[in-house]
Amino acid sequence: AHDKESIGQRLTEICELLQTTMGYYDWVGFYFANHKEKTLHLKAFAGEPTDHTVIPFGKGICGQVAETNSNFVVADVKAQNNYIACSMYVKAEIVVPLFKDGKNVGQIDIDSHTEDPFSEEDERFLEWVNQQVAEIL
Ligand code: SME
Repeated sequence: AHDKESIGQRLTEICELLQTTMGYYDWVGFYFANHKEKTLHLKAFAGEPTDHTVIPFGKGICGQVAETNSNFVVADVKAQNNYIACSMYVKAEIVVPLFKDGKNVGQIDIDSHTEDPFSEEDERFLEWVNQQVAEIL
């Protein structure tokens, strides 16, 4: 059954798989949007726990993607002024929106301890991951 609990478990497994197999994916998480409250909520992750489990639309890289509906690739997080730091080790980040029936319902967020690691291949790959996830929502 696609109940809330099993979706959370499957998302956690996807995060763990990506974090363990992709050497420069140090933290992997899925945030989902509450469009009424205009907030993002962390639903599943792999890596160090973060304090930022709720992020308002517009805040940080994640909050910006909630409003732009576009991928956001950050080669150097220090060069961003609208950025929420989760760990002092993070050097780069990629956030790719997750669309269900054409609506931006959330996103996958990846932090890297490697400098400038994300390419267009990561974007295409993560878009594909999100399409697969949309099928189980
Ligand atoms: N860095 C993100 C916040 C989420 S943490 O990376 C887990 C941001 O700026 O939105």
